[in-house]
Amino acid sequence: MKWFTAPLLLFFCLYATRAVHGECCGRTSEETYPADEKVQQIVDKLKPSVELKTGANYEVFNATSYKTQPVAGTNYFIKVHVGGDDYIHLRVYEKLPAYGGDIELSSLQLSKSHNDTIEYFY
Ligand SMILES: *[C@@H]1O[C@H](CO)[C@@H](O)[C@H](O)[C@H]1NC(C)=O
Ligand SMILES: *[C@@H]1O[C@H](CO)[C@@H](O)[C@H](O)[C@H]1NC(C)=O
Repeated sequence: MKWFTAPLLLFFCLYATRAVHGECCGRTSEETYPADEKVQQIVDKLKPSVELKTGANYEVFNATSYKTQPVAGTNYFIKVHVGGDDYIHLRVYEKLPAYGGDIELSSLQLSKSHNDTIEYFY
């Protein structure tokens, strides 16, 4: 084992671990895409988790636009219309199909408006 192998390995492990948890690098697609059926399905699935976190009951929960970030899997940043002039942003992590393809709610931002751009957030 050469002297530099251990730190290199350590660095790689840290990097890989973060990537697997969808928290790597903080770079999203430049483009914001209009929400499609798949994104709406993701949002529908996560509605109960969001309501649990926010204590709200949303009558409207329509995804309007989103950005993605390729990690080991995909991070979605989704703007959701929750009625009236209110929008929220969701960060959703979709695992690779090899790891079951599950989706999970990573984080959310409240009190957004239709014209707030979707930015990376923790
Ligand atoms: C939300 O989406 C549903 C289904 O596409 C649509 O029928 C409804 O009008 C939308 N609601 C709002 C407030 O845009
Ligand atoms: C966003 O929209 C609101 C009203 O809907 C407006 O007051 C505000 O200036 C807009 N902001 C930007 C950055 O366009």
